Amino acid sequence: MDYQNIKFEKDGALAILTVDRPKALNALNSATFHEMDHALRSLKDDTRALIVTGGGDKSFVAGADIAEMSTISAAQAREFSALGHHVFASLENLSIPTIAAVNGFALGGGLELALGCDLIYASEKAKLGVPEVTLGVIPGFGGTQRLTRLLGRARAKELLFTADRIDAAKAKEIGLVLEVLPADKLMDHCKAVAAKILKNGPLAVAQAKRVVEYGADQDLRAANELERQGFAVLFGSEDQREGMAAFLAKRPANFQGK
Ligand code: HXC
Repeated sequence: MDYQNIKFEKDGALAILTVDRPKALNALNSATFHEMDHALRSLKDDTRALIVTGGGDKSFVAGADIAEMSTISAAQAREFSALGHHVFASLENLSIPTIAAVNGFALGGGLELALGCDLIYASEKAKLGVPEVTLGVIPGFGGTQRLTRLLGRARAKELLFTADRIDAAKAKEIGLVLEVLPADKLMDHCKAVAAKILKNGPLAVAQAKRVVEYGADQDLRAANELERQGFAVLFGSEDQREGMAAFLAKRPANFQGK
């Protein structure tokens, strides 16, 4: 597929997906979602981490495309919402770790995209928020729910009701982003985090992601049982034998993801 709205690059085991419509501040229209869906489906086993970012120097993603949304019917809105939910769930359900490099505006659907990633880092000039109520709507790509799970109900409601655009420092203070970096250091930081993760056992990292994600929606007893099963399953792997043998031999582990 020839992408018009995204860039999708590979750098060894790292893939970088850039939403790339800088003239519209990378707003998400249907065509962009279809390209993202295609890119995520095309990921092969040799990709072990993914960074998502925005093209240009101003915006991560400034939301769903308001021009496209302005004339749609309720039935079409249901379809558009379903498309966004599908693509962000595909992102969230990847077994590899995903990192959002928020390099500017992350508003509405843009923040929802970041929330579909495992780790969110922001540049000092990032502005984040869910301004949908200023347009007479609410987030429709999972934002009301993922924001609430991440921040708690009161913070999520404050952002949703006020439509405030918060800066990166505030976003870090409330736990929406993990770290704030100077703009020119953001990608390097995200790549360094990815490189650190890539040194570790891929099956173990995937299992850690799985039990956190599935466990988060369950009671503690069921969630801990999920952890116990995930822990035990890794003991059938070559990576577990290699990791422990390497420790005992005082050498770095050479994981194969098997
Ligand atoms: C379509 C957009 C856009 C968007 C910006 N643009 N955001 N086009 N959809 N979400 C376009 C502008 O129309 C403009 O095009 C160009 O990008 C540059 O934007 P400006 O507004 O001129 O830039 P600036 O003054 O710097 O303001 C930046 C901004 C503002 C604060 C980010 O653009 C803005 O408020 N954007 C909308 C943010 C928003 O409300 N997002 C939530 C969308 S609803 P031209 O052609 O004039 O140069 C949503 C719902 C998701 O995400 C759920 C759906 C189911």
